[in-house]
Amino acid sequence: MHQPAISQLAAADAEVAALVEGEARRQYEKIRLIASENYVSTAVLEATGTVLTNKYSEGYAGKRYYEGQQYIDLVEKLAIERAKAVFGVEHANVQPYSGSPANLAVYMALVNPGDKVMGMALPAGGHLTHGWGVSATGKWFDAVQYGVRKDTGRVDLDEVRGLALAERPKLIFCGGTAIPRTIDFAAFAEIAKEVDAVLVADIAHIAGLVAGGAHPSPVGHAQIISTTTHKTLRGPRGAMLMSTAEHAKALDKAVFPGLQGGPHNHTTAAIAVALGEAARPGFRDYAAGIVANAKALAEALVERGFDLVSGGTDNHLILIDLSNKAVAGKPAARALDRAGIELNYNSVPFDSRKPFDPSGIRLGTAAITTRGLGVEQMPRLAEWIERAISASDDAELDKVAAEVRELLSAYPMPGWV
Ligand SMILES: Cc1ncc(COP(=O)(O)O)c(C=O)c1O
Repeated sequence: MHQPAISQLAAADAEVAALVEGEARRQYEKIRLIASENYVSTAVLEATGTVLTNKYSEGYAGKRYYEGQQYIDLVEKLAIERAKAVFGVEHANVQPYSGSPANLAVYMALVNPGDKVMGMALPAGGHLTHGWGVSATGKWFDAVQYGVRKDTGRVDLDEVRGLALAERPKLIFCGGTAIPRTIDFAAFAEIAKEVDAVLVADIAHIAGLVAGGAHPSPVGHAQIISTTTHKTLRGPRGAMLMSTAEHAKALDKAVFPGLQGGPHNHTTAAIAVALGEAARPGFRDYAAGIVANAKALAEALVERGFDLVSGGTDNHLILIDLSNKAVAGKPAARALDRAGIELNYNSVPFDSRKPFDPSGIRLGTAAITTRGLGVEQMPRLAEWIERAISASDDAELDKVAAEVRELLSAYPMPGWV
């Protein structure tokens, strides 16, 4: 059953309640390896479901366009102070609706349409909003893109420097959505300084690892830090922009009134709750556990002949190139889902296949670590993954799914009782 209980919803709208219950059960019964997902605490869930959703509060604390902000101002200030303390930054804006609008606000604050910007190419592991062609950021700005080295699968810093010197972008994004290795913020900062560009670290994926000390911090290297709040940071769906004091005003103006209207106050409250959780000592163990699980899973997969991009992982994320197996990413992801293992198909660097039917699958260990799975379970996961992608019929997949359900029944899920 969904936790907190949704009895009022069930009485008022049985149709929606049944769908929510169905999704809660699905989340409970699956091994969640989607690298961008997690299970938030019931406290975070409760905060998102409060009357704060009723309130309009365009503007910032003390300077709103609507009356009645006695509590909302305090909630937003609390979230900001917690963000500043957890990440050690001079400024934080907790209003961006999600990661993509947060990144758009960075462009709005710092560059004009047509200006040169630089980010990691999507197929190499970057995000759409780092200047990829189909995104507004690729259409409205003159974006140059860097990738990874073919021999190592790691960010090609020589290419980054060469491109930066040749193109002189005003803005350089580092970080991405499918990068299994540590981001060298210091090296990016040196390159950005050389060409007088502003460095933006998009830590959406690794924010929880940074908060928990399991990945180096971009603070002191990147002038601007963008993050979602719902991945390894384990908060509600939302985002934050953090920066040095120098860029505070421009970022705030870009978020509101530049791009957005009223902030989602129920989300702001939930972000504050998640940041409160991230500030507790136990979160450091959680962050370390995520990385330990990813490393153990990577090792077990390599032992079974899987080809991992860059050969392994330093963080929560594993990218498998299935080219040496008899299956592509999409059918593999489908089979795994039926087998109770949820992940996504993904392009791999230098992929010969199309983005909608690529060669890879992407895995992450944030959610299973929240659930309490440890390194001792990772070899079993690797075995299930192998069995699922080489299964000859649905019966074998259903057999794996039953084994998965049995294992998971020993591990409680926040949001389910
Ligand atoms: C690195 C990175 N930046 C930004 C985003 C965008 O976040 P959202 O999906 O919340 O717009 C993502 C989402 O996966 C991401 O991985």
